[in-house]
Amino acid sequence: MDKILIVANWKSNKTAREALEFMGEFGGIFEAREDVGVIICPSYLSVPAVSEYVKSNNMQVEIGVQNVSELEEGAYTGEVAASQASELVKHAIIGHSERRKLFGETDERVAKKVQMAAKNGLEPIVCVISENIPIPTEVKIVAYEPVEAIGTGNPDTPENAEKVSKLIKEKNPRITHVIYGGSVTAENVSGFTKMPNVSGVLVGGASLDPRVFASIIKAC
Ligand code: PGA
Repeated sequence: MDKILIVANWKSNKTAREALEFMGEFGGIFEAREDVGVIICPSYLSVPAVSEYVKSNNMQVEIGVQNVSELEEGAYTGEVAASQASELVKHAIIGHSERRKLFGETDERVAKKVQMAAKNGLEPIVCVISENIPIPTEVKIVAYEPVEAIGTGNPDTPENAEKVSKLIKEKNPRITHVIYGGSVTAENVSGFTKMPNVSGVLVGGASLDPRVFASIIKAC
């Protein structure tokens, strides 16, 4: 059976020093599980320190980024190309609803970012708000995240997450994992992960505290 994926999306939180403090505390309490894959996505400036920490402490955790450029390396001020990210990480969240809403990411731009990620050996984790959002053919991991559930404390119901996840898989048979995101906590995580078509969770706010994040992994 495929592993359950627990993905931490730290968004634009934590300095590199705070990220290392998190890793120190998390490393002391995290219990790796055979059936669970853990992916932490810090902000870009913390990625080198966190990935170095994971490597030197031999932690069973993978690191991802929260975005990649749709362009190759070059004269694009402020962008980070997928080829640059791929030196340090294996995964890239792409098309999060905050990026779509606040930074003008369209389905077309998301598709280009996915292409760049895939070309450079990064596994894209594409976020969609419903089963009706187009998903590029390279994608195997999708995060279903209804906007009204993100950061509000009002998660979707596990039953609806299951329904949407099933529809996404039916429409896109190459997908191996549909994970759910939006106000996931240690208290509600197992309601989602026990659903047959929900293969994990994407956690924002509750991933910022090492104890809370560790308890989500334990409870899933
Ligand atoms: P939340 O965020 O867990 O804070 O609701 C989830 C996300 O935006 O990925």
